[in-house]
Amino acid sequence: MIRIDSVTKRYPDGTVAVDRLSLEIPDRSITVLVGPSGCGKTTTLRMINRMVEPSEGTILIDGKDSRQQPVNTLRRSMGYVIQNAGLFQHRTIVDNIATVPRMLGWGKEKARARARELMERVGLDGSLAKRYPYQLSGGQQQRVGVARALAADPPVLLMDEPFSAVDPIVRKGLQDELLRIQDELGKTIVFVTHDIDEAVKIGTMVAVMRTGGKLAQYAPPAELLSNPADAFVEDFLGTDRGIRRLSFFPSAGLRLLTTPVVAVDATAEQIAARATAEAPYLLVTDMDGRPLGWSEPGDLTAGGVDPARLLPYGRPFVAGTDSLRAALDCAVLSPTGWAVGVDAEGRVTGVVSQQTIGEAIRGAHAKGRTDAEAAR
Ligand SMILES: Nc1ncnc2c1ncn2[C@@H]1O[C@H](COP(=O)(O)OP(=O)(O)OP(=O)(O)O)[C@@H](O)[C@H]1O
Ligand SMILES: [Mg+2]
Repeated sequence: MIRIDSVTKRYPDGTVAVDRLSLEIPDRSITVLVGPSGCGKTTTLRMINRMVEPSEGTILIDGKDSRQQPVNTLRRSMGYVIQNAGLFQHRTIVDNIATVPRMLGWGKEKARARARELMERVGLDGSLAKRYPYQLSGGQQQRVGVARALAADPPVLLMDEPFSAVDPIVRKGLQDELLRIQDELGKTIVFVTHDIDEAVKIGTMVAVMRTGGKLAQYAPPAELLSNPADAFVEDFLGTDRGIRRLSFFPSAGLRLLTTPVVAVDATAEQIAARATAEAPYLLVTDMDGRPLGWSEPGDLTAGGVDPARLLPYGRPFVAGTDSLRAALDCAVLSPTGWAVGVDAEGRVTGVVSQQTIGEAIRGAHAKGRTDAEAAR
């Protein structure tokens, strides 16, 4: 575990970049430092591997003062990833990744074999190995940066805005990849960003810092969203924090209805037996149970389903796996106000109304409050 204990950094010109910061960074999880520009995130990260020396306070690594370790040993145990990857432009991709193993004295072949293994791990095609960084897209370069940091298998990864320079779609891919790598390798990751959505998505713990290098709040994302410590944190989280918080509640408890679901070959009698006042629309599926669309009240009774007249069913949610936020989103986007729940294979398991989702949300909020009180 990394423990930052009342650490202050005062630069020679008098700037206090970090002010008496204390943080316990748990092992094998992702801790995110987030906050506005200039609040001391990079300084904090660099104090962990002693690229910057603290003015006061101590940083303990596995209980030992980091100053008692030779700086080279310390840095070797911590991979470092920066924005724009910071690759060596005159070296091929495979040799960029092999940099640290080579420095540690590995033979060329062994180091390159390791590099190729890591390319696969971070989702890079082996055919890119002999290219130079300028021949890669920004997102690919960023993956090379992550692979290079992982090359010597350090227990700790320090990442300073690693995904800030790529577009939102590539960024989402990189975030998912990082979560998968973290799952597989169990690294202790300290991740800096100024993007609160990124922090909430990937953080096990999130430290919100404010200008002047002070800690505003340190909590798991769900706790941050439900109980911001003060107006600064609340402001920083943004206006739709209630909606985003729903990402942390599973859809598993939602009661899905199967009565309003009919197969495309249903007879008029079968259909008539399905429509109710509570659920006036019927969802029509194909013979495999995959959704085709919604039928308006009355449309089906004439003698069977006319697929050409169905309303679009929108985007379904995976019932039980996806969050309440996903379920709500589907209902809001649906022309009928009902969300379609499917299983992992895309077969309909039932439908649920906005109203029922609303009740589940109120229940989840109430439970959140009780849990918070119990914790106090
Ligand atoms: N070498 C330095 N000498 C003097 N002041 C510095 C030095 N490096 C950083 N600072 C100042 O320390 C404060 C914190 O800087 P830091 O780079 O840690 O912020 P940051 O949170 O990473 O910001 P950003 O989000 O813009 O990257 C800023 O006011 C910055 O100007
Ligand atoms: Mg910075």
